[in-house]
Amino acid sequence: MMTMAISLPLLLLAPLAAQAQAADQVPLSSTPTDIYAALSVRVGGRLFQPAPFAEPCFVNTTSPECAAVQELYQNEKARTRHAGGYTWGQWETCQASGAQCLLDFTVPTDPTATASPNTCELGSISPYFIDVRGPEDVIAAFEFSKETDVPLVVKNTGHDFKGRSSGQGTLALWTHNLKDISYDAAFVAEGCTDAFPGVTAGAGVQFFEAFEFAEANNITLVGGSDATVGFTGGFLQGGGHGVLSPVLGLGVDRALQFKVVTPDGVYRTANACQNEDLFFALRGGGGGTFGVVLEATILAAPAAPVQVVVVTWAAKDAARTKALWALIADNVIGWADAGWGGYAMPELALFVTQRLSKDEAAVSMAPLIAHAEQLKAEGVEGAMVMVMEFPTFLPFFNSFMTDAGGNAGAGKVGYSVSLTSRLVPRASFSSEADRTALVDALMAASGAPAPDAPLMIIQITGPTAVHAVDLAPGRTSVTPAWRDAVFHVTSMGMWGWNATESDIRGVYKHTSALMDHVRAITPDAAYLNEADVYEPNHEVSFWGAHYPELVTIKMKYDPERLLDCWQCVGWNQDSERYGCYL
Ligand SMILES: Cc1cc2nc3c(=O)[nH]c(=O)nc-3n(C[C@H](O)[C@H](O)[C@H](O)COP(=O)(O)OP(=O)(O)OC[C@H]3O[C@@H](n4cnc5c(N)ncnc54)[C@H](O)[C@@H]3O)c2cc1C
Ligand SMILES: *[C@@H]1O[C@H](CO)[C@@H](O)[C@H](O)[C@H]1NC(C)=O
Ligand SMILES: *[C@@H]1O[C@H](CO)[C@@H](O)[C@H](O)[C@H]1NC(C)=O
Ligand SMILES: *[C@@H]1O[C@H](CO)[C@@H](O)[C@H](O)[C@H]1NC(C)=O
Repeated sequence: MMTMAISLPLLLLAPLAAQAQAADQVPLSSTPTDIYAALSVRVGGRLFQPAPFAEPCFVNTTSPECAAVQELYQNEKARTRHAGGYTWGQWETCQASGAQCLLDFTVPTDPTATASPNTCELGSISPYFIDVRGPEDVIAAFEFSKETDVPLVVKNTGHDFKGRSSGQGTLALWTHNLKDISYDAAFVAEGCTDAFPGVTAGAGVQFFEAFEFAEANNITLVGGSDATVGFTGGFLQGGGHGVLSPVLGLGVDRALQFKVVTPDGVYRTANACQNEDLFFALRGGGGGTFGVVLEATILAAPAAPVQVVVVTWAAKDAARTKALWALIADNVIGWADAGWGGYAMPELALFVTQRLSKDEAAVSMAPLIAHAEQLKAEGVEGAMVMVMEFPTFLPFFNSFMTDAGGNAGAGKVGYSVSLTSRLVPRASFSSEADRTALVDALMAASGAPAPDAPLMIIQITGPTAVHAVDLAPGRTSVTPAWRDAVFHVTSMGMWGWNATESDIRGVYKHTSALMDHVRAITPDAAYLNEADVYEPNHEVSFWGAHYPELVTIKMKYDPERLLDCWQCVGWNQDSERYGCYL
């Protein structure tokens, strides 16, 4: 991978430090400026007003600042460094009013997007952000929200697919700069006695940092497919799956401890030996709901070689896609039980394991390798198969996974998307008839092979071959359906910067309707971090039988719902904070 060390010009507006000093003498009182000035003092001047990512191009299209934004418009790292930058365009906008500050993502230099009458509006971006550096900042924000009724959001990397890290008129707690990371080979959670190898990471640590840290410390960490998603933020608190999950478990399965400020203003330690209810809730109940996590400690696994088998070809062809997916459906139970994880797309399958040697891997994957050899023999354009061994996880990750999820293929961000998800249980693979029905449903849900068809990704990332004894102690709150999930499938739709409200509604509807083909043959279960914005029966789909207990815990720590987010546990769906959703 080539990482270019481009650093964005500092686009954040200057902190309100100057005003804050003046406000020292001004009592907290009636006008909004005063209340924010007082808050700024309380948080050490680290309150600021963010600019939308594309703002420089609305100020001056020929400035060097605009050129930098155009160049990095589709770059995930640049967006996550920027307080006002989000991965998916629509969560910067107010979809309901059309207020936005977007470039044309297909051609960021397209002058139409910034030309009159288009203006640069904050949309859903919070007008005020706190650059969180410690528990006192979060406690101040909870008190502020209680006194002023200004709603809060927690923004870490801004990768969320459901808009849970932005909100018009909110105060944002930005956890991005909590970058500490350390390793203790004999970590003992506070109040517990057993020692585990544990990595303690601040909420702002991203996967590229966690994986580099793991490499340097000769350990393996379970993470997702994308370099810039947060390691202990929304990913972890919502479940967290990756190619190593079949053997090493979901992210939540490896959480040893959280340090979290709960909305009652208390900085707490949650683990298997204290605040167990909160520990359970933070292990799958979803981000932005039970508290603001400042750091988490995650169970590390030993470093180990990674076996990889990749099959791919070039041109879209529905019959070939169907043959590939059918072959996977016929073999996947055996593969998953042997410890393989991976991804399949219309023209690609990638399987990964640390459990087998290179020779064992080739034997185990013989049917897939033979299938690829057949495609090559037929002269299928671009057909190839790779059977590889990497010494550790990082070089594998850097070869296949870095850009916008790697598996998503797109490699770019900054456009607007609708996603939809379903967990597919073991029972869907029982008989030949079941497998045929599943593959037909997946083909229907992928809409292949039109060039603009939504991208279907089959993620073979359920914790299928996990040995519970290897994991962190205590309960998790993800839907129990994850324990039986062989596939997590997603389909994705997208739209342009100038789509009309009715176009956007249409894409959401269409994407969701595609997944109805899979919904019809599987129980209600979806991955909350990659789900439909309008997930039907979401309480059951995301949490199954755990939902009532999670609501009780939510009401214990946050009876006033100072934290609230879209389809989150105990949400208040009538809240004005959802005014920008369609
Ligand atoms: C390109 C791409 C690839 C992905 N690949 C994977 C994958 O392989 N596996 C997988 O499981 N998921 C994957 N995801 C989904 C990912 O888990 C979610 O987008 C998740 O919400 C990201 O969390 P974040 O903290 O990075 O982002 P944010 O958008 O900043 O936050 C997401 C949610 O978590 C809350 N939150 C964040 N930090 C905290 C905190 N410190 N305390 C409390 N609440 C917090 C926010 O309020 C919000 O509700 C991917 C997403 C993208 C865009
Ligand atoms: C825009 O930026 C260019 C390059 O810095 C500069 O020459 C020009 O004067 C600017 N235009 C305005 C209206 O400020
Ligand atoms: C790294 O960890 C592996 C697995 O525990 C071990 O076999 C190896 O000796 C370690 N390497 C170094 C350099 O410590
Ligand atoms: C959106 O903008 C593009 C050019 O940037 C244009 O071709 C297209 O017609 C526009 N679509 C709508 C719905 O206005």
